[in-house]
Amino acid sequence: MRSLCFHHKPGLSRLFGVCVLAVLMASTSGCSDTEVPPPDPAEARPGGDATTSIIPFPALDKVTPNLPDDERPQFYAGRALAHQPWVKAPTITDARDGLGPIYNARGCLACHIRGGKSRMPDDSETPLFGPLVRMSVVLDDAAAMTAAANSHAGVIPDPVYGDQLQTQSIALLHQLRQASPVAIAEQQQVAPEAYAYVKWHEQAFVYPDGRQITLRKPELDLRYVAYGAFDTNTRFSLRNAPPIHGMGLLELIPQADLEALADPDDADGDGISGRQNRVWDARSQRWQAGRFGHKANRSNMDMIVASAFANDIGISNPLFPFQPCTEQQPLCQKQRNGNNSQGLELPDNLLRLVTNFTRNLGVPTRRNVDNADVRKGRPFFYTSGCAACHQPGYTTAASSAQPHLGNQRIWPYTDLLLHDMGPELADGRPDFAASGSEWRTAPLWGTGLMGQVNGSKQYLHDGRASSIEEAILWHGGEALAARQRFTHLSAAERRYLIQFVESL
Ligand code: HEC
Ligand code: HEC
Repeated sequence: MRSLCFHHKPGLSRLFGVCVLAVLMASTSGCSDTEVPPPDPAEARPGGDATTSIIPFPALDKVTPNLPDDERPQFYAGRALAHQPWVKAPTITDARDGLGPIYNARGCLACHIRGGKSRMPDDSETPLFGPLVRMSVVLDDAAAMTAAANSHAGVIPDPVYGDQLQTQSIALLHQLRQASPVAIAEQQQVAPEAYAYVKWHEQAFVYPDGRQITLRKPELDLRYVAYGAFDTNTRFSLRNAPPIHGMGLLELIPQADLEALADPDDADGDGISGRQNRVWDARSQRWQAGRFGHKANRSNMDMIVASAFANDIGISNPLFPFQPCTEQQPLCQKQRNGNNSQGLELPDNLLRLVTNFTRNLGVPTRRNVDNADVRKGRPFFYTSGCAACHQPGYTTAASSAQPHLGNQRIWPYTDLLLHDMGPELADGRPDFAASGSEWRTAPLWGTGLMGQVNGSKQYLHDGRASSIEEAILWHGGEALAARQRFTHLSAAERRYLIQFVESL
C-alpha cells in the first residue's frame, strides 16, 4: 500500500482520508502529518446523491433516488428479471425460461436476499442454498497460478464438475426432493452435482487482556456426489454471496486511483502490498483489471451478472453462451439450450436490463454518525491501519452512460485490491492473477445493516464470522499488524471501533 498524502500527490486529491497512512509508516513515507482526517459531513451519505433512505426499512435493493424518471421503467424491468424465479424451458413465454439443466438457485435475489448477503447454515444438516462452492484443479501452486493467469476462464476447472458446484437440477425427482442426486443419476435423469453442507469447527481466541471469544471455521461436506470422483487435485472454495448495492458507483471509481493505491512489491515496506487482479473481459475481448467478486475475478457488471446467469441459474447468454455442464455430463449437455436465433436463453437486451438494475442500487445512508461512541471509534479505525486497505473515499468518474452516478463523492471503504490475508483465510485456489490466499478488500459501506436487511449477519468470503469483531480477528497476512493493533486496544476502544464500522 503506497502512502498517499494530498500535498505530496495532488493528482490523487480525489481519494479521501488516506493521508493517515502516514501514521503507520512515518519512517518510510516521508509524510509527517499524522492526523486522522477530520470527519467530513458528506460521509453521512456514503453514495453521494445515490444514497438511499433506511426508512421505512433498510434494504440493499433500493433504486438510487437520483435515477432520472425516464430511466425508471428500465430499472424496474431489470429488477423484475432479477427477482423472478426462472423456470425450465420450454414454456409459453421465452422471457423467463431456460433454468438449468443444473443450477444453484432460480433467481438473483434468492441468494442476494433483499440485495444483501446469503446465509450460511448454522447446523450441519441444512444444505447450502445461497452460498456457492467453487472448484478448480491445482497441481502445484506455481503451475496453477500461471495457468490461471493465462486462461480466459481464470481457473483450471475440474474435468467432470467444472468450476462451480451446481446443487440443483431440473429433474422432477429433484424438484420434488424424492430422490438423492446419486439416485437421480442412476435413473438417467439430469442430476444435481451434489448436495453441499458445512460442518463448523470452533476455536478460542484470547485477547492480550485475557478476554476470550469463540471463532468458528467451516469445513465443506459434500454428499450424494452424482457424477463420480473429483480430480484428485481439485480444491474447493466456499463463497457466501456478498451484498450488491452501490455496484455502479464502484464501477466508476477511476482506474488511476486504484492503481495509485496498489503497491504489488510493497515498495514502501509497510507490509501491505495490494494489487489488482487481471481478468478476461468477454464483452471487450480484452484483459482488464478485476473489481468484483471475492477474488476480484470479474471486471464489471456485465461480466459478473452474465456469469451469474450462466453458472448460478443455468441461463446461457451472449457473454457466457454455455450451460454449466461439462462434456463428462452428456445428459446435461443434451438438454435444450435456448430458442433464440443465437441459441441462447437470455438475449443481450435482457442481460443489459439486469446489469442496469445492479448498477443502480443505491447505498444506504449512515446511521449514528454523531453518536459519541461512534465518534470515539473513528480514530481507532485509522490508527489501527484499517484504512490502509479499507480506503474510505473516492470521487467517481464522469459517465455518459450513467451521468447520475458520475462525479459523486462516495465512501465505500475498500481499495478493491487483492491482499494476502494469511493461511487461515486462504482457499489455496488461484483465480486469474489472485493467489490462493488473496482476497479483495470487502467494501464496508452498509456493513452494519446486514442483519437488519435479511438476517444474514455473516462476514468474510465464507460467512464464517458472525460479527464485525470476529471478522477482524480472522484478518492475517498483510492485515496481521492491523489485527494486532486492534487486539491491543482496550475492550472499550475495541467496542468504539466496531460501533464506528457498524455505522458505515
Ligand atoms: C446461488 C446464489 C447466487 C445467485 C443465484 C446469484 N448470485 Fe450473485 N453472487 C453469489 C456469490 C456466492 C457471489 C460471490 C462470488 C465469488 O466471488 O466467488 C456473488 C457475487 C455477485 C456480485 C459481485 C458483488 C461484489 O461485491 O463484487 C454481483 C454484482 C452479483 N453477484 C449479482 C448477481 C446477479 C445480478 C444475479 C442474477 C443474475 C446473481 N448475482 C445471482 C451468489 C449468487
Ligand atoms: C491488508 C488489508 C486489510 C486491512 C489492513 C484490514 N482489512 Fe478488513 N478486509 C480485508 C479483506 C481482503 C477482506 C475480505 C476477506 C475475506 O472475505 O475473507 C476484509 C474484510 C473485512 C470485514 C468483513 C466485511 C464483510 O462484509 O464480510 C470487516 C468487517 C473488516 N474487514 C474490517 C476491518 C477492520 C476494522 C480493520 C482494521 C482493524 C481491517 N478490516 C483491516 C482487508 C484488510
